[in-house]
Amino acid sequence: MVGTSLVSGCSGSNSDSGSNSGSGESTARNQLGVAEEVTFTNPLRIPPVMARSASGTSAAASTLAAYNLTIKAGTAQMLPGNATSIVGFDGTFPGPTLVVERGEATTVTQTNAWTENVTIHNHGHKVAADSDGHPVDYIPPGSSKTYTYPNDQPAGTFWYHDHTMDLTGAHVYNGLAGFYIIHDAAEDALNLPSGDYDIPLMLQDKQFDASNNLTYTSQVAGFNGNTPVVNGVANAVHNVANRKYRLRLLNGADVRPWNLELRAGTTPQTFQVISSDGGLLQAPVGTTSLSIAPGERYDIVVDFAPHAVGTTLSLFNTDATAPAISTLMQFTVDRAETDTSNLPSTLATINRYTEAESTGSADIALALANGTWQLNGLTYDPARIDITSPSNAVRIWTLTNNSPAMHPFHKHLVQFNVLDINGQPPPAIENGLKDTVQVPARGTVRIIFKNEGFTGTYVFHCHKLGHEDHRMMLQESVTP
Ligand code: C2O
Ligand code: CU
Repeated sequence: MVGTSLVSGCSGSNSDSGSNSGSGESTARNQLGVAEEVTFTNPLRIPPVMARSASGTSAAASTLAAYNLTIKAGTAQMLPGNATSIVGFDGTFPGPTLVVERGEATTVTQTNAWTENVTIHNHGHKVAADSDGHPVDYIPPGSSKTYTYPNDQPAGTFWYHDHTMDLTGAHVYNGLAGFYIIHDAAEDALNLPSGDYDIPLMLQDKQFDASNNLTYTSQVAGFNGNTPVVNGVANAVHNVANRKYRLRLLNGADVRPWNLELRAGTTPQTFQVISSDGGLLQAPVGTTSLSIAPGERYDIVVDFAPHAVGTTLSLFNTDATAPAISTLMQFTVDRAETDTSNLPSTLATINRYTEAESTGSADIALALANGTWQLNGLTYDPARIDITSPSNAVRIWTLTNNSPAMHPFHKHLVQFNVLDINGQPPPAIENGLKDTVQVPARGTVRIIFKNEGFTGTYVFHCHKLGHEDHRMMLQESVTP
């Protein structure tokens, strides 16, 4: 059984940010601005796990798994009717999911069979600078590049996406994004929901023309679409058993933050947050709502056991800072099953850096000036180094947001800890491994980290892709 709901006329104006009344009934937007019945009947797409093309032995004697992907035009069934033209990994969207074991090095050879320069970044991974998908480290049309990923970091949900200077937003919007998941023995031992009960969900907003083709304009403010898609499917539904599921949530939107609830009717359900960007939290955190900004990931465990077979639940958005989108997708409990998975009360040990360990700091001011986003009064110049950090030294960066917008700040190379947000200790879900942190409007966030493993030039930037493409990005040189 599938939930239905009424969409009342929405003008297409990008300014009606307050219309999520919380009724749970108004859902996807109607592009024509006419009241219509929206049904969540399109089956959720779960991107296939990619098979390895080869295996061999690396110099370090660990198994080297090799993947080959081709960047090319393709189509995706986002809406009923015409398939939507995309550019994707192997011409698919989302791209194939890469699943590896911690410490098992992989190579990914990307062949650009498209018409534009690309460069591919593995978001959240600790990698050598020449495998990091630097914004001008282009793979020109007709050529290939092999990236090496050590995967030497805790189990977690990561994603690979285009990172081309000035064009990341357009390229990701048009399909160049996929999941990259690391498993490890410590996580496996927990017996969390796995296999068919472990589902990655890429949350985005799109806008379609009458032929179901995507529209996008690169804007300083960023692009807000009017139609939510999950794993590239609008008005999606997924049938679930009455048991625990692990949902790997990724905000893959251009600029839109989501504030998520899981509603049965109008009642928000409690779910457990089990991991942040870089891996498991120390312990599950129960909540009825979750804020997730572009670039961030949170894995949650949802227990559908309290819900009778036939119940429909909505993944609902209450964020009021962007033009309203309410329901992203639905889950329908369609069967009873025995659940042998666990959700232990302790998940991992997080070794947080302490302020006393820091041997240096940097201040980074986020601002809107002369109609453009800036970091320390600057915009991105790939020929300029903005911060030099020695490797193997603990550093504190103070991120001061002098602008009226929240910015999700993302640093490459290593995960960081959030020291404080507006002077207060971070909430439990931000107390683990993070690579992207929301810096509130007019707020201050301090992060602490240790660059290690590799040296070279890495970027840090706002992960609102419209902001990034308008050069809200700088470079860090990590020195030996
Ligand atoms: Cu997800 Cu520098 O990016
Ligand atoms: Cu920003």
